[in-house]
Amino acid sequence: MKREFQRIDLRDRNSFHVVQLADRLVEFDSAEELRELFARERPEKWMVLSGGNNILFTRDYDGLIVTPVADRIAILDERDDRVRVRAEAGAEWDDLVAWTVDRGLWGLENLSLIPGKAGAAPVQNIGAYGAEAKDCLESVECLFTETGAVETLAADRCAFGYRDSIFKRELKGRAVILSATFVLSRTPRPRLGYGDVIREVEALGGATLHNIREAICRIRRSKLPDTAELGNAGSFFKNPVVERAFAERLKAEWPDMPLYPSDEGGERVKLAAGWLIDRCGLKGYRRGAVGVHEKQALVLVNHGGATGGEVIELARLVQRTVRERFGVEIDTEVNIV
Ligand code: EPU
Repeated sequence: MKREFQRIDLRDRNSFHVVQLADRLVEFDSAEELRELFARERPEKWMVLSGGNNILFTRDYDGLIVTPVADRIAILDERDDRVRVRAEAGAEWDDLVAWTVDRGLWGLENLSLIPGKAGAAPVQNIGAYGAEAKDCLESVECLFTETGAVETLAADRCAFGYRDSIFKRELKGRAVILSATFVLSRTPRPRLGYGDVIREVEALGGATLHNIREAICRIRRSKLPDTAELGNAGSFFKNPVVERAFAERLKAEWPDMPLYPSDEGGERVKLAAGWLIDRCGLKGYRRGAVGVHEKQALVLVNHGGATGGEVIELARLVQRTVRERFGVEIDTEVNIV
């Protein structure tokens, strides 16, 4: 076991920086350690806390928290231009992206600077700027806590969707991710179609891997708050997927409303929750210690000293306002505990 804590303050282990206590937190370094821990203690209530970047604690946690710390990144093998890279769950996601970019490996560059750990990436199938983790994921290795078995799930068994996977559903509370394996490419395959990416890449001198990474980092820094300075968990809400006919009625009323195709096919489309919240006049809204970020309305922020409960109250207010104005339900993306 790496380290073990009792009655630990989670403030520095969640990016919202809310103050809550956990009864017990154990850091683990290997599958064996984790297997022994579960076999010995058979905990009734437990959860994985990785980088804490997509979670909001609203109360103290009266169970066992396990945190992966092994963070090795390695090339497994290379065939033609396909390179398989394995990252242990505790590797910092953006360190992994930087590592692959430095080695000329294409695939993860559009996901630069997403906060969090590699083991959390498959859970919500992180995505940004026209790419998702699933696009390059080959498999996910996990430990099933009831049996202690370690299994490698091929990506097509992980039920990946928009910010969704089997790890949020059937395997929640049953499996702990140990590592993720990606298939990357030595052949350039730039994806520049999203928003400002192409403009920023051209300003940097063209579509090299390093330029794409740099462009994405610049765009993110200009819009999204740094969790070290302002507590937040990235997008607090998911972009809602609605019936096309309904979206077109809204579009007739609000011609500048963005509409995107959805993974679910032609009859459903995705709306931009940030735009909806913004048009309700809530961007930059502040209530006590919590607020809606002034540059990106999808992000709720802790201005300092907020409780999880205050964040939830603001989230409910935002959801209610969007529902009343547009008749659209926006679901939370963040895991609320
Ligand atoms: N918009 C506004 N006002 C706002 C925010 C957005 O009008 O305050 C408009 C934008 O102008 C744009 C549209 O809404 O027309 C979409 O905005 P943006 O391109 O910023 O992307 P997003 O839908 O807000 C999603 C992801 C982000 C990811 C970006 C870039 C979700 C929930 N969020 O945001 O992911 O970085 O695309 O690809 O899908 C995260 O998951 O934590 C996250 C930051």
